[in-house]
Amino acid sequence: MKGLVVITGASSGFGAAAARAYARLGHPLFLGARRMERLREVAAECEKLGSPRAVAHPLDVRDKESIDAFCQAGGTPEILLNNAGGALGRDRVDKLRDEDLIGMIEANVIGLVRVTRALLPAMIAAKKGHIVNLGSYAAHGTYEGGSVYAASKTAVRVISETLRLELSGTNIRVTEMDPGLAETEFSVVRLGDVEKAKAVYAGFQPLTAEDVAEAIVWCTTRPPHVNINLMVLTPTAQASLTKVHREQK
Ligand SMILES: NC(=O)c1ccc[n+]([C@@H]2O[C@H](COP(=O)([O-])OP(=O)(O)OC[C@H]3O[C@@H](n4cnc5c(N)ncnc54)[C@H](OP(=O)(O)O)[C@@H]3O)[C@@H](O)[C@H]2O)c1
Repeated sequence: MKGLVVITGASSGFGAAAARAYARLGHPLFLGARRMERLREVAAECEKLGSPRAVAHPLDVRDKESIDAFCQAGGTPEILLNNAGGALGRDRVDKLRDEDLIGMIEANVIGLVRVTRALLPAMIAAKKGHIVNLGSYAAHGTYEGGSVYAASKTAVRVISETLRLELSGTNIRVTEMDPGLAETEFSVVRLGDVEKAKAVYAGFQPLTAEDVAEAIVWCTTRPPHVNINLMVLTPTAQASLTKVHREQK
């Protein structure tokens, strides 16, 4: 039987696409997110695609009790995909809303660390496993309006590097996955507006959730002695955080 894959933020985007990809490979799945109806739909689809058991469990990574309940219910992951989170707003520092500042740090940094902390002891005892942390291309620089998002993803980078040091000798692999512009619900959540979100991806071909899921699966299916430390993938049209080639209509 294939090992358990635990995915945070599996109700949409990369998390849902990764759940489907691991389901096709026959992995049991333990999936978390806040939108339970969406999450149950993903879990049901995963069982149809070949997962022997796909469980949808409520999870709010901004809430410690929710994290503890999720992690206690789930079992020991062979693969932990720390994916839940995102960006809130695109305001400059002088206009930054407190709720966005706190929301990004709580979900992208504190939540990721708490989930990892709760699941690591069992993974260490099992002497195997793979943690994939969703960072971002934004951890490789910054852009106007991206201060706290880029800072939170830079923190993911440092946490991933620290984990590799602390887990040396345990057989547990740690991968940081850093995508550039990918069209998911990310920009709708960030900007709170479907039309504004569409404009982010206008005139070029962004990454899809499936592109990123495929990369995640590739990293976790290398032989056990191979660790992909960091993967940065961008749309071909994205040359940097601030330079995207867009075709004019
Ligand atoms: N799309 C991009 O361009 C891009 C690029 C680089 C990195 N990333 C990162 O990739 C990850 C996934 O993003 P995505 O593009 O797939 O966006 P998405 O479609 O908006 O998916 C985000 C997922 O995270 C979950 N989530 C958000 N806050 C949560 C919370 N407090 N507790 C539990 N789950 C939560 C959402 O579920 P619920 O709302 O149902 O809870 C959803 O399943 C994020 O960490 C994001 O920062 C995205």
